[in-house]
Amino acid sequence: MAISIDLTGKVALVTGSTRGIGLGIAQALASCGARVAVTGRDAAKAAAVAADLPGAQGFGCDVAVPAEVERLVGDVEKAFGSIDILVNNAGITRDNLMLRIKDDDWNAVIDANLRSAFVATRAASRGMMKRRWGRIINITSVVGLMGNKGQANYAASKAGMIGLTKSVAKELGSRNVLCNAIAPGFIATEMTDAMTPEAKAALTGSIPLERLGAVSDVAGAVAWLSSDLAAYVTGQVIVVDGGLAT
Ligand code: NAI
Repeated sequence: MAISIDLTGKVALVTGSTRGIGLGIAQALASCGARVAVTGRDAAKAAAVAADLPGAQGFGCDVAVPAEVERLVGDVEKAFGSIDILVNNAGITRDNLMLRIKDDDWNAVIDANLRSAFVATRAASRGMMKRRWGRIINITSVVGLMGNKGQANYAASKAGMIGLTKSVAKELGSRNVLCNAIAPGFIATEMTDAMTPEAKAALTGSIPLERLGAVSDVAGAVAWLSSDLAAYVTGQVIVVDGGLAT
């Protein structure tokens, strides 16, 4: 049996894909033949990133605003004809100890990370159900499985994405719309660049594979889940963390 990932003819919408993990996912899916909707808060930046990817187009959207997410899904469907693969990747942190988290910081993180994934899933799944083919992939975090000091809002949003994933998998499975989550550990991006060298060294000491993950480690898992190789996988959390949460 020959194995390859061919997403020719598929359209992928990746939220927050102008940098970091989202950009890596957009590049990976485009390299497999998918036409990718690159999205970011800044439409011009999204268009510039899309210009480097074959078949891609850029769209502006603040995912924390439900009406913008609904509009984005409509615009992408109009431009490409469908959305076959939805990757809910956009996310933020507003870290603080639980006792110091302000309501605004709680709401901002839940809105950007969790509500955005719900609204995008609700909007994009209608077409997927009609076409009897869809892949929804939610980028959560090991922190959603383990919790983390100083990240109660972020961990709650990521744990919420896991409950969303499993529920959507159960509701849409009969229409061949699969929904899975990927829980990265610590991946080298601008989000983790902010750490001090000492904090990074302490962290890598607790990772069995003794390194931070690369964006390609996560993007590869997304490409696999998007492909027919994962046609019998739904409702799962694929942990990509070098063994950290083991
Ligand atoms: P990043 O900060 O480099 O990228 C996040 C992207 O989301 C950015 O392009 C940002 O503009 C976009 N975004 C944030 N809020 C948005 C909004 N309201 N509207 C539109 N776009 C918005 O972070 P990174 O590391 O690439 O993270 C990507 C995803 O992976 C996030 O959901 C993050 O929580 C998750 N993750 C990252 C880990 C890491 O170690 N870097 C570990 C586990 C999960």
